[in-house]
This record gives sequence, structure tokens and C-alpha cells, in this order.
Amino acid sequence: MREIPPVFFVLLVFFSSSLTVVLSEVRSCSMQRLTMVGGFENTNRALSGSILTQHRVKSVRECTVRCLSTAGCVSFNYESAPVGLAGGFRSCELNNSTVWTAGLYRLVHRERFVYYEKVEDGGAIFVKPDCGAVPNVTNASTNVTDSTYVTSVTYKCSNGFDVQGSDTIYCQPDGTWETPPTCLISQNSRCGNSPVVDKATSSRDTSTDTVTYTCEPGYRINGTNPISCMINDVWEPAPSCEERGFPVAISITNKDVVHPSLGKDEGSWMTDTALDNGMVYITEKSHNPGKVIEYTSANFPYTNLPREIDVECDGTTHVIRDGYLFCGQHNNLNIMKYRLTDGQALTTGDLPSDAGVHDVYPYTCASHTDIDVAADEHGLWVVYANTSNNIVVSRLDPETLDISDTRVISDHAKTNTAETFIIDGVLFAINSSPTNYVSYVYDLFRGSGKTLTSTDLPLASGSLSADTTWDSFTMVDYNPRDGKLYVYSEGKAIRYDVTLTF
Ligand SMILES: *[C@@H]1O[C@H](CO)[C@@H](O)[C@H](O)[C@H]1NC(C)=O
Ligand SMILES: *[C@@H]1O[C@H](CO)[C@@H](O)[C@H](O)[C@H]1NC(C)=O
Ligand SMILES: *[C@@H]1O[C@H](CO)[C@@H](O)[C@H](O)[C@H]1NC(C)=O
Ligand SMILES: *[C@@H]1O[C@H](CO)[C@@H](O)[C@H](O)[C@H]1NC(C)=O
Ligand SMILES: *[C@@H]1O[C@H](CO)[C@@H](O)[C@H](O)[C@H]1NC(C)=O
Ligand SMILES: *[C@@H]1O[C@H](CO)[C@@H](O)[C@H](O)[C@H]1NC(C)=O
Ligand SMILES: *[C@@H]1O[C@H](CO)[C@@H](O)[C@H](O)[C@H]1NC(C)=O
Repeated sequence: MREIPPVFFVLLVFFSSSLTVVLSEVRSCSMQRLTMVGGFENTNRALSGSILTQHRVKSVRECTVRCLSTAGCVSFNYESAPVGLAGGFRSCELNNSTVWTAGLYRLVHRERFVYYEKVEDGGAIFVKPDCGAVPNVTNASTNVTDSTYVTSVTYKCSNGFDVQGSDTIYCQPDGTWETPPTCLISQNSRCGNSPVVDKATSSRDTSTDTVTYTCEPGYRINGTNPISCMINDVWEPAPSCEERGFPVAISITNKDVVHPSLGKDEGSWMTDTALDNGMVYITEKSHNPGKVIEYTSANFPYTNLPREIDVECDGTTHVIRDGYLFCGQHNNLNIMKYRLTDGQALTTGDLPSDAGVHDVYPYTCASHTDIDVAADEHGLWVVYANTSNNIVVSRLDPETLDISDTRVISDHAKTNTAETFIIDGVLFAINSSPTNYVSYVYDLFRGSGKTLTSTDLPLASGSLSADTTWDSFTMVDYNPRDGKLYVYSEGKAIRYDVTLTF
């Protein structure tokens, strides 16, 4: 807070003969843009769009006079008064008549308000200038949301930038802002701007002066990541983002038989792919309208009070996401979205009319699945076939159920596929017979696929071979929340860790 010493004194003399004129003009004058509040600092009430004075005189009576600036009403106009000119002020005594008195005033800056302090009795008028919208500063944010009559603004430079100049500026009495600060690349970073890497976003840690790059989907880092600002004030060589190619290994380990016998050979089991809500869901049978049953994982599946919701889902490959069930509708081209809290079907989405449903080109595993809703790190997908037995994959909008980014896989037939799952934008097609390897991979971001042999991505290695023969399962699905592979095989609910190597 700066206190500028008194800069000006103005003596105003009013003539008693003007009294009646003043009164009528006071009543009729129009509202003014400036806000003036007088008397005491703590009575300062900024009324946008009006002029308000509150002046307390010797008798400790208060009066409120609006519209002080009409010509003849008062002797100055705040809007045009140059800084340092105090203009005038009239104190009043109110007893249903106003007595205007001359006063001696000085212009004072206090807390960046300009006000006119009446020397004799301590009364004052505050004039709060309007500087308009706060200036924008590149790479800084402010704590001001509404620019109306803002008197000060404090800037905060973005991470990695240092402020040059005062971080707080004030609205000046003449209605202009003080010069705002600038935000310069942090002095801590001797290396300056970090290198830009094609197909990557970067995030900078100013405490360690390192930069971490994240490649777009379908690309992977080649080189050092993160990079540091080195002792000679240059960045380490930046990595690049290379097309990640196809996975060269899939490791399926840490078998967890979550339940050894769910009673039905044909079914599916799931947990939420977004919420860690401790719930387990199963569907029984397929190919018929049925139920999804919700258990708490602690009771799974023995609780005698599960929540059961009637659903019309076809097949055994559905997704639970954020408390909603997504599935292909029985004997129909619709994708369904059910709210699990009350079982309400909220939305339906349409597959293309040439999509094969109802045992046209089902997966060849032990279920009857034509329409496969899948989740991965990038959202929801739906895997189906067109009526030429081509596998088709589309993005599925979880809100609207609109499909987009449709890819038709022309070199791998749906009926050569036991099941598919999607991890990080890569579709894995399990071979039809035998089912112990991935016979086709497809990169959903690059739109390219590759046929594999039984030795490229075998599935029957490690613990997996002990649990299922891979021709008795009805579901193999990935859950991006826990990074695990969910398998339903002969009534067993099994879960594995899964790791890809590119
Ligand atoms: C205010 O007006 C009332 C009624 O007109 C009168 O009795 C009273 O004396 C006045 N007070 C002062 C301080 O003038
Ligand atoms: C003074 O004004 C008040 C309210 O404005 C009113 O109630 C009162 O009657 C007035 N007194 C006189 C004497 O005009
Ligand atoms: C600051 O930027 C915002 C958003 O771009 C814009 O609406 C506003 O008018 C700018 N303010 C000034 C003073 O330029
Ligand atoms: C700083 O501002 C520039 C120009 O608006 C912008 O391109 C850049 O992304 C900003 N940097 C940060 C870290 O906000
Ligand atoms: C902005 O921050 C400054 C300093 O902390 C504070 O004085 C000012 O009142 C804040 N302004 C708003 C609008 O919050
Ligand atoms: C990684 O970068 C190095 C150096 O630029 C290059 O020689 C190599 O081919 C890159 N590797 C891949 C997989 O692109
Ligand atoms: C299925 O997709 C393939 C590949 O795009 C295309 O050649 C074929 O005509 C499609 N079949 C139908 C019935 O649309």
C-alpha cells in the first residue's frame, strides 16, 4: 500500500443562493458510471453504475446523495477530472433539506482508491476508477474472474516461467492499468525451452528441470525419457516417437481363479472398467435376454442378495463402465446402455445395417457372440462383422453410443477368430482352432494389421495352459482399470496379469 502525500488542495465556495437549484438538479440528474463512497472507508460500497456518497458531518447524521456530477450540481466531473484535481464536494446536513457547504479537500491515494478527503472533519469521497478488463499476460493466470471495477490483479506464471516485474498491478486513478508483468522461461531452467518432439506432448518438472514426453497413441518413445538440462546448459538429446509396430510378445501371468465354478458353462464376468467400486458382475448364458447380476467382491458370488437387472444382451462380451453396462442387443443391430443402479436402458446406438448379428459370424469360442463391446485405455470399442465375414472395429462413444473411426479388417475373417480383446489400441484375435495363440493383431490407431503364426504370440504358455484348454472359454476381455485379462471358462472366473512387449 502506497500512500501518496496530499497533492492538491482545492477550496470550493458555494453560494447559498444556489441551494434550491442544487436540490432540484440533484434529484433529476442521471446515474453516473463512477462510484463514490464517502465518509468512512468501511462504508465503501461500490455500486456499479451509480454515484453514491455517504458523508458524515459533525452532527453524526448521515446523508446519501446520488448523482453528484451534474453540471451546476457539483463543480467537477469525475470522468474528466485530471489526476490531481480534487474537484469539489459538498457536505450536507439532512433534515429533509440539504445544506451544501464548501469544503477543503485533498486528493489521496489509499489502497489504490482515489478519494477526496475533507480536511476539516475527516469526511471523504472515494472515487473508484474502472480500468476495464484486466490485461492478459502470456503464460500466466490471474485470480480475477469478473473484471468489473477490479482494483488489483495478481498474476501467477505457468510452471516453468518466472515473473518479471511486480506480480500484482493496480488500476490507476486515471482508469488505466499499471504495466503488467511478463512471464519468462524460468531462470531455474538454464536450458530454456525444451525441445519439441513430433507426435508427443511434454510435461516439465521445474523442480528437477526435466522434461517427460508422452507419445501419441500408436507411437512409442525411442531414446532417453525424461531428459534433463545438463551441466553445460543444454538439454540432453530428446527422444523421438516411432511407430510402435506390432507387439512381439504377450505375457499372461499371475493366474487368479476368482471363482472356480459359477454354475453355468456359458457366461461372462466383469468388474467396472473405470470405477474401482469393489463390485463384480456376471451374466449368465448368452443368446437370450438375461440378467446381469451384481455382487460385492467380498461376497462374490455367494451373497443371497445380489442385485439382478434384466437386460437384453447378446453374447458374453460386454463392458461395465462408470456404473453402466454396454452390450449388443439380442437379435438386433443396437448397442445398449443400461444404468446399473436401476436397470434403466438409457440409450441405444446403431450398428451399420450390414453388421452380422445373431449367429451370422459369431466368434468360434464356446459362446454365441456376434457383437463384442470392448474397453481399453482409450475408451470403448465395438467389434463385429459385416455380412462378408470381415471383422469391423468402431469407436463407441460412451455418452451417445455413436460409432466412429470404423475400420474394416479385410485380411482376417471373423470365423477364424475364437475371441478378441483390445489392449492400448491393439486388437488381438485369438486363433479359432486351436485357440492357443493370437493369430492376428490390428493396430486401431494406425489402421494396419498383421497375420501371426502360432509361435509369434502364443497364449498357452505359463499358467494359462493349466486353466483352460482355450476352446472352452466364452470370454477373454481386457480391463484397462486394473490392466488384467478376464477369462470365463467352464464356469470359472479367472483373471491374469497381462504385459505387452513391442
Ligand atoms: C428537523 O426537522 C424537524 C421537523 O421539521 C424539526 O422539528 C427539527 O428541529 C429539525 N432538526 C434540525 C436539526 O434542524
Ligand atoms: C422528512 O423525510 C422523512 C422521510 O424522508 C419523512 O418521513 C418526514 O415526514 C419528513 N419530514 C418533514 C418535516 O418533511
Ligand atoms: C484476455 O483473453 C481473453 C480470452 O482470450 C479475452 O476474452 C479477453 O478479452 C482478453 N483481455 C484483454 C484485455 O485483451
Ligand atoms: C506459453 O504461451 C505460449 C503462447 O501463448 C504457448 O504456446 C505455450 O504453450 C505456453 N506455455 C505454457 C507452459 O503454458
Ligand atoms: C488476488 O490475490 C491478491 C494477492 O493474494 C489479493 O490481494 C487479491 O485480493 C486477490 N484478488 C481476487 C479477486 O481474489
Ligand atoms: C531409435 O533412434 C535411433 C537413433 O535415432 C535410431 O537409430 C533407431 O532406428 C530408432 N529405433 C526405432 C525402433 O525406430
Ligand atoms: C465388408 O467389408 C469388406 C472390406 O471393406 C468389403 O469388401 C465388403 O464388401 C463388406 N461387405 C459388406 C456386405 O458390406
